[in-house]
Amino acid sequence: MKISGLDSEMQMLGLIAIQARQEAYAPYSKFAVGAALLGENGQIFHGVNVENLSFGLTMCAERVAVGAAIAAGVKHFKAIAIAADTEQPISPCGACRQVLAEFNESLPIVSVNLRGLSQQWSLSDLLPRSKTGILDNP
Ligand code: THU
Repeated sequence: MKISGLDSEMQMLGLIAIQARQEAYAPYSKFAVGAALLGENGQIFHGVNVENLSFGLTMCAERVAVGAAIAAGVKHFKAIAIAADTEQPISPCGACRQVLAEFNESLPIVSVNLRGLSQQWSLSDLLPRSKTGILDNP
């Protein structure tokens, strides 16, 4: 599969997110999401959404990928790809934006769908001023 409009690194990351998505646990929404988080050291961490009968305890694919990276000792990130089977590529939810901003406020994000469409953003455009003022953060 080829995703249009991406450089080779983002293309690779997008394809990994599509692959990861196959392990999503989404019995309630049936909406499977995959994520691939690229560490500055070149390591890639997978995430999928993990739903829960309580609904509210559901974890998004992006935050699961962040957890996997942190648990492996990687805290510096170059990019994240997310994948879903939608007409338009999805954008990350607000909670995930804040969690990603913890580690890289201008993280490049690529979102891909299964039709080969993609969209790219900088996290700073999706969530500006993510930390300003909190605990006197400048
Ligand atoms: N979901 C993600 O995993 N990532 C997103 O960026 C959007 C939403 C999940 C949460 C839930 O399991 C399902 O998609 C429907 O919202």
